[in-house]
Amino acid sequence: MSSAPAARASSDRADGAGADGEAAPGRTAESALAPPSYAGGPGAGEIVHIVGARPNFVKAAPVVSALAARGLRQSVVHTGQHYDDRMSAVFFRELGLPRPDVDLGVGSGSHAQQTAALMTGLEEEFTSRSPGLVVVYGDVNSTLAAGLVAAKLHIPVAHVEAGLRSFDWSMPEEVNRRVTDQLADLCFATSPEAVGHLAAEGVAVDRIHLVGNPMIDTLLGSLDRFDTAALRERLDLPESYVAATLHRPANVDDPDVVARLVARLHEVADQIDVVMPVHPRGRAALTAAGLDGHPRMHLLEPLGYVDFVTLVRASTAVVTDSGGVQEETTILRVPCLTLRPNTERPITITHGSNRLVTDSELPGLVSKILAGEGLGTAAVADVPPLWDGRAGERIAAVLADWTAAPAASANRGA
Ligand code: UD1
Ligand code: UDP
Repeated sequence: MSSAPAARASSDRADGAGADGEAAPGRTAESALAPPSYAGGPGAGEIVHIVGARPNFVKAAPVVSALAARGLRQSVVHTGQHYDDRMSAVFFRELGLPRPDVDLGVGSGSHAQQTAALMTGLEEEFTSRSPGLVVVYGDVNSTLAAGLVAAKLHIPVAHVEAGLRSFDWSMPEEVNRRVTDQLADLCFATSPEAVGHLAAEGVAVDRIHLVGNPMIDTLLGSLDRFDTAALRERLDLPESYVAATLHRPANVDDPDVVARLVARLHEVADQIDVVMPVHPRGRAALTAAGLDGHPRMHLLEPLGYVDFVTLVRASTAVVTDSGGVQEETTILRVPCLTLRPNTERPITITHGSNRLVTDSELPGLVSKILAGEGLGTAAVADVPPLWDGRAGERIAAVLADWTAAPAASANRGA
């Protein structure tokens, strides 16, 4: 594994129980080889949240907070899939998330290497911790690994952001989310389409809960922190600009694709400044393709949550391939040009300001936006149902009921 920080325990438990300051129990070569000894059952232990990558932190924060308000026992396990301060710790500092009880430090690697390391680390963790329920978020490798390990240890799983489908199996996220939904005892959906996908795939309706969008809880709860004037001054931002982010493998892994996208972004920069916090995945390829070789391209390190959403809020338009950013622009009503052939979040098109675009359409659409012609999408005026800042509370209410009487809704007939 490359870039794998060492596993470490940390203090400030999610349930406020305080630091233990010791390495996670059970983390020895012997116990790694022993068969799982998990002897709990639904409701036997605490709720354990698994987070690992940037979007997970934004989604988990309101759920952890709502469960804390109800006094439920919980812990946060960080897998360490993302580990740079700007991809990880900054979100804990900004979003009121308690410092994780443990950081497994799995780091980066190929899908197989990373997923194997995640599964090995999580199996040890679950075996020693005996959770009553594991909560996983979104569609990253940490989500899939936690779902698989929990299911094999007969630990119930709740999936937050269940049922999204791009129907594009070339995306690792599509694999991760579909498998996770099959494993989950509780599926928390952000949109009516997601409920429909789950039902169509045979997920029992009593396992599906339409709760709204916890990523939007975080956004709405932070609105008074998005000080656009202060950010402009601090980052010396141009008067008007397009904000850009790219990290999908389909956009940043192949040097030919990257070269084409860089040329298009430069065509955009011919018209308006482009401010781009660069995700580490694409940094080397985008730099090699000369991304910074235009005087109106402004490249930044990844931003913390508050700075990034402030950047988006003050922008003329956004160019992205991020899932979360499609949702955030839907609420902020900033025109969003999504450089993808599909989206697992079509509600951001029907109820938001999102449009799927090819790279060749990009410069022309930006010039239309600058001419005040908009995106030509037929978005309805209403925001998506239940994207009202209360998804975390709804999830906590379901989990509170479930932990009181879990057997009735168990997926695997335990
Ligand atoms: C992962 C998720 C993706 C999600 C994205 C959010 C998977 C398969 N992919 O993609 O669904 O949209 O996170 O940002 O789970 N790196 C660093 N520092 C870090 C983290 C990563 O430099 O803190 C670099 C490493 O070179 C690494 C590469 O980024 O190899 C990719 O990281 P990885 O977590 O494997 O996937 P992402 O592309 O970040
Ligand atoms: N984000 C951030 N800083 C950045 C870019 C994005 O805080 O420099 C936030 C963004 O507002 C959203 C989340 O990260 O809340 C989305 O993560 P990402 O785009 O990495 O993943 P995806 O949503 O595509 O899985």
